[in-house]
Amino acid sequence: MPPAYKQLSTHDPEEVSVDPTSSPTSRLTSRLSFTAVARLIAVMVLAYAGVRFLTRAALKLRAPCHSGLQRNLSSLPTHYTLPSGDKIPSVALGVWQASRGEVGAAVTTALQAGYRHIDGAWIYRNEEEVGQAIRESGVSREELWITSKLWNTFHAPEDVESALDDSLKKLDTQYLDLYLMHWPVAFKKDTTEVDKELTANPYPTWQKLEELVEKGKVRNIGVSNFNIARIQNLTANPLKVQPAVNQVELSYWNPQPELLAWAKENGLLLEAYSPLGSNKQVKESLEAPAVQTIAKQLGITPAQVIISWHVQRGTIVLPKSVTPSRVEENYHIFALPEDLFEQLETAATSHPPLRVVNPSKSWGLGYDVFDDYPQ
Ligand code: A2P
Repeated sequence: MPPAYKQLSTHDPEEVSVDPTSSPTSRLTSRLSFTAVARLIAVMVLAYAGVRFLTRAALKLRAPCHSGLQRNLSSLPTHYTLPSGDKIPSVALGVWQASRGEVGAAVTTALQAGYRHIDGAWIYRNEEEVGQAIRESGVSREELWITSKLWNTFHAPEDVESALDDSLKKLDTQYLDLYLMHWPVAFKKDTTEVDKELTANPYPTWQKLEELVEKGKVRNIGVSNFNIARIQNLTANPLKVQPAVNQVELSYWNPQPELLAWAKENGLLLEAYSPLGSNKQVKESLEAPAVQTIAKQLGITPAQVIISWHVQRGTIVLPKSVTPSRVEENYHIFALPEDLFEQLETAATSHPPLRVVNPSKSWGLGYDVFDDYPQ
């Protein structure tokens, strides 16, 4: 707290009240009295001390956490509005690769830090622990956004609803805010053998997802890992519900500017998974010179620079962490000044793209599911 000092004022009610009828000359004389001069000196000394204190305080704020600078950065959107009218929070805790035994604590930390969006999937095999942490948090269901994903083995229309029911049960919730087709690839039931027909034409699977919206079990449906051609292949059908989002790998190393531009033109929101480059590339992402320079310039962390950049690009961002301090750090994002945002965008799009996730070979597809890598 700065020292309390009396402000210099243009009038002094006390003095005026001493002799309200006195002339301007006599008031001037009384101001020049010994007491008045002493008061003036005291006020000047205190004012000087106050200015010194404030200057030092301002310098201190430029120390490591740079909260002074952070406060000056304008804020980014906290939510996006989907075609359904639902508002989806722009930053989520991603729980892919958050193993059982640690994911619950991460969710607890996230909810305490202010996150209201948890992005999970049936295949992450951690939904029960996520559900338990949500239940124990005391945060009401209406305040939360919960996403899960339909795994490839459940694309057959008769399997879709029971797959969702299993996720609902594990998460201990009556409905999902968002349910995604996890991949544009269907496996035959209980196998990892590709169902070529349902993969080539995901419309029957989508129709079941539409039914789940009608039943009120999911509020929004979308896709994940779809490229433009695969989205168009789906949306060429007479859909009752359009995909609300497409969740894809987006990072400094794989920024997909063409997909992003196309999605914006077509009113489709993208969600960025592995936004920091996942555990395989996170170090390289955070150490990228452009990221480092901007972080230093703004006094925020490299992870905050990247997460902010994602939201500023107009996508949802799903950073994963099971480290409490990082979970907290990743939630605080800031609008980058336009020139710095452009610098980062240029740096991210000026090197050959590098994905972390591409299971095309391991699933024996015989083609690249993203159509961007030669096999
Ligand atoms: P951990 O979970 O051990 O904290 P992505 O979100 O791209 O999938 O990246 C996840 C990886 O990045 C994990 O290895 C995670 O580690 C690490 N990570 C997450 N947040 C940060 C951060 N703020 N600083 C450094 N590493 C982070």
